[in-house]
Amino acid sequence: MFALKRVLSAVLQSTSLCVSHFSACHCLKTSRKRSPYSSVDSERYSSLVKSVMSSRVSSQTPETLQAEDDHIYGPVVKAQTPTRPEVRGPKTLHPFLNCEETVETEEPESGPPARISLNRGQGRSFVPSVTRILQQTLSPEQIFYLERWKRRMIAELGEEGFKEHSQNLFRQGKLLHSALEDILTSGAAWKNRDPSETPEYPPEVRGYLESISHILEDVSAVRAIESTVQHATLNYLGIVDCVARYRGVLCVIDWKTSDKPKPFLSNTYDNPVQVAAYAGALNNDSNYKYQVENGLIVVAYKDGSPAHAHQLSSELMSEYWKTWLLRLEEFTEKRASHASSTLPEKR
Ligand SMILES: *[C@@H]1O[C@H](CO)[C@@H](O)[C@H](O)[C@H]1NC(C)=O
Repeated sequence: MFALKRVLSAVLQSTSLCVSHFSACHCLKTSRKRSPYSSVDSERYSSLVKSVMSSRVSSQTPETLQAEDDHIYGPVVKAQTPTRPEVRGPKTLHPFLNCEETVETEEPESGPPARISLNRGQGRSFVPSVTRILQQTLSPEQIFYLERWKRRMIAELGEEGFKEHSQNLFRQGKLLHSALEDILTSGAAWKNRDPSETPEYPPEVRGYLESISHILEDVSAVRAIESTVQHATLNYLGIVDCVARYRGVLCVIDWKTSDKPKPFLSNTYDNPVQVAAYAGALNNDSNYKYQVENGLIVVAYKDGSPAHAHQLSSELMSEYWKTWLLRLEEFTEKRASHASSTLPEKR
């Protein structure tokens, strides 16, 4: 059951990456609008399902599956330890930090936060994003459970309902994102504001803002908002939600929305890997004259209940950095083999 939970964790994370990730708007900036699932190769997927089905599910009856679903999708999954990063190590252990730059830079922290926009036109069009790499390196189990979750949602809401639900989450994420951007850029004292009395923000995001307000009180020295980070050597990029101090510690911060409580880091699926990937890119990006060792994942709730803040220590970040390097290697290998197999046709 433990293994199952881990798999599910990973799957739901991959889902939340597309469906409820606040940065979902980044996807819009790419060339065409895609369904979050369009990147899943359906041919490959069907054989994967068969193999997973035959090895894992064949002995189960609909009743045990139902029970399992209830167990999985029921209230909180009480896994207290974070998902262990993979045991296998990456082929090349690229450094997470750039040793030449000091972590605590003398550079003043005042001034407006950086906001480097993603410019796909300038040779960046072939640099894959962190979310894309994570999406395309899901394990067979992750894909299987992702599809199963989708089927369950469709069974509950209908095709149209599910589509609408996904779009709503996407829109809410975007709205909240811009609200947070506004709040953090203006640097306005959040403390004295009552979120329920901030009519300038759309009603859909007020609950989330209320949920997140106690976290914002501990956020200071904002250095980057919605800013592109790129790892020159490893050739990937991403857009960090925020770089700021949380309780005095400089962090890469990722805002997430969630329908369900995620009180433990282990409930956040691939998010820690994503945060480590962003931090590693920032540390290697000459646009940023400082290093970030820590991470923070904030899970906000629509009903306004207090958001959960999951801190990632520099030790944990290093572990997740290794996991990231593995995923990146896998992505690069896949892409290389795909490119070589399609090359002859192009000639
Ligand atoms: C970026 O990473 C590569 C290898 O991982 C390293 O050789 C290079 O020095 C790094 N550059 C910076 C500016 O951190």
